[in-house]
Amino acid sequence: MSRQILVTSALPYANGSIHLGHMLEHVQTDIWVRFQRMRGHEVYYVCADDTHGAPVMLAAEKAAISPETLIERSRNEHLRDFQGFDISYDLYYSTHTEETRQFAEQIYLRLKDAGLISVRPVEQFYDPKREMFLADRFVKGECPRCHAKDQYGDSCEVCGATYAPTELIAPYSAVTGATPERRSSDHHFFRLGECSSFLQAWTRSGTIPPAAANKMGEWFEAGLSDWDISRDKPYFGFAIPGTTDKYFYVWLDAPVGYMGSFQHLAQREGLAFDDWWGVDSTAELHHFIGKDILYFHSLFWPAMLARAGYRTPTQLHVHGFLTVNGAKMSKSRGSFITAADYLAHLSPEHLRYYYAAKLNAGLDDIDLNLEDFTARVNSDLVGKYVNLASRTAGFIRKRCGGRTARALPPAAEALVAQFRSQADTIAQAYENGEYSRAMREIMALADLANQYVDGNKPWEIARDAARQEELHTVCTACLELFRLLTLYLKPVLPAVATKVEALLGVPALTWEALDATLLDQPIADYQHLMQRIEPIQVQALLTAVAAGAAAALAAAPTPAAATPAATPPKAPPPVAETPKAPPPIAETIGIDDFSRIDLRVARIVKAEAMPEADKLLRLTLDLGFETRQVFAGIKSAYTPEQLEGRLTVMVANLAPRKMRFGESQGMVLAAGDGNGLFILSPDSGATPGMRIK
Ligand code: 2FM
Ligand code: ZN
Repeated sequence: MSRQILVTSALPYANGSIHLGHMLEHVQTDIWVRFQRMRGHEVYYVCADDTHGAPVMLAAEKAAISPETLIERSRNEHLRDFQGFDISYDLYYSTHTEETRQFAEQIYLRLKDAGLISVRPVEQFYDPKREMFLADRFVKGECPRCHAKDQYGDSCEVCGATYAPTELIAPYSAVTGATPERRSSDHHFFRLGECSSFLQAWTRSGTIPPAAANKMGEWFEAGLSDWDISRDKPYFGFAIPGTTDKYFYVWLDAPVGYMGSFQHLAQREGLAFDDWWGVDSTAELHHFIGKDILYFHSLFWPAMLARAGYRTPTQLHVHGFLTVNGAKMSKSRGSFITAADYLAHLSPEHLRYYYAAKLNAGLDDIDLNLEDFTARVNSDLVGKYVNLASRTAGFIRKRCGGRTARALPPAAEALVAQFRSQADTIAQAYENGEYSRAMREIMALADLANQYVDGNKPWEIARDAARQEELHTVCTACLELFRLLTLYLKPVLPAVATKVEALLGVPALTWEALDATLLDQPIADYQHLMQRIEPIQVQALLTAVAAGAAAALAAAPTPAAATPAATPPKAPPPVAETPKAPPPIAETIGIDDFSRIDLRVARIVKAEAMPEADKLLRLTLDLGFETRQVFAGIKSAYTPEQLEGRLTVMVANLAPRKMRFGESQGMVLAAGDGNGLFILSPDSGATPGMRIK
């Protein structure tokens, strides 16, 4: 049965860049959305920038532009970054819109009519110079516990103590440096406690992950307090109806931005808003969020919706935080990777796959370990998946008339059936957000496909003129398996899938295409589907990130500046070595001299470090027709895991040399200038044994 599904990711703040932490969530959402679309459901995916609040107002002032200009610039940048990762929103909007204003006012007034808004005075720090009340993050001072200077008003970064801003010693305004005064003003509160029984029932109805539900049990026990939904002017936001100097707190209108954005989309697409948000809606509403904002989405938001006469969310999909190499991303440590930095060095599909391989429905943090990332992507996507096509599509083009065969070999039929039989398991894993499970199942199938290739050795069959028919059916079977793997991976790798659809000449793959076949149809020329990750790309990314962090620190504002300043780096950031002058070009040789060197593509099937040798790795190289043992002086640059499975280039006719550990039967080629070593590899599509000319 076709479902109607509305999906959101949390709305990123307008006053900051999109980083790999945001990307974790938006990739997670996008995979789910693309999966649901492939299943034939009616799906809309909306997101927007979260534009309001004091930080946006102050950042705009500092840049001497209006907040409207600032949020427009941010939105363009954010959209560019998300598009760079192929996030397929139906609309990426803004909360600073008429639609969101109207819903925010309407919801507030309905809550007020229901007696759920109360007003009472609140005492806070006030900056007499800038004439504004100061949120905790805008008050700094000496930590009352460890006496560290310049700590924020809510917690100490040195000793970890948490406190009220009024407890700071010698407090000052982070906006102007002025000594803050304590002042009182009226605030509007949403009486959340009145909704307690509704919320307890709602959170127990399967709407949130069990791990999150446990956390909520603690909140209910502690009792729900009223929620302060107003801020005094000056503030960038929506004025509260019936007041002249009060604004909605940014967190009141942020989730309302989901509705406002959908309203805009509904008008564009001719959808009936109430079918999706009315109390009687049969559509599903799914929010993807991080565990840090669970409180807002599991308490305030459903309570606001229910009490204002709207439907409540179907499900909250909650994820943990992203760490990079085991630690929280940190600007000062040079590990704060923005989406734009990443895209300047690496492919979006690599990260989409890695995130998918690590994501499940739990709240645990996800670690982007860059070494593991490199190894995993190269071994799974390039080694197991893309190579299936690169090793077989060419034969169909060049040796089999460019069309797939009319039938598969009987042994392959069973394998194809086995691939199809996994469809429900894989679909269920996607549906439940268990992407790591889905990737494991898919890669297990890819292993079977590779066993089929290795068992049938199309490159050997190709050498025998009498076995052309067999070559044809075996390669067709490989491409059929590859087509099914592509279908399964498509929610994660949309761009690769599009290229594969063109290669195979098939319509856009949906779940229905499971039962189609690839028999007797034309195949296009093989184009590169995906490059492997070279460790040097990751290194270049980290160097760029560290250089950016160092530059930002050099330009760091004084303590009185509006935005929270970064702390000094713990270690000096790595800087690129000054390049040495390249060595002069060697003497000229003729083409005959060159052709005496037999250079071949080889697969490193095994790499072993030898404790007795500082510099050498023992490599086992597969040339397709024979295996060689080569000792290579590349231990300083590569771990065995980084090498195993990859292709390289070797001198195959170098006279064998007796070494202390055994005979070295050739040489692998590597570039180097004393600052690093980089072994050569052919583009994907090359196969072991190919001669280099
Ligand atoms: O935590 C954040 O980044 C918020 N800007 C998320 C808002 S989500 C929704 F409620 F708008
Ligand atoms: Zn302290």
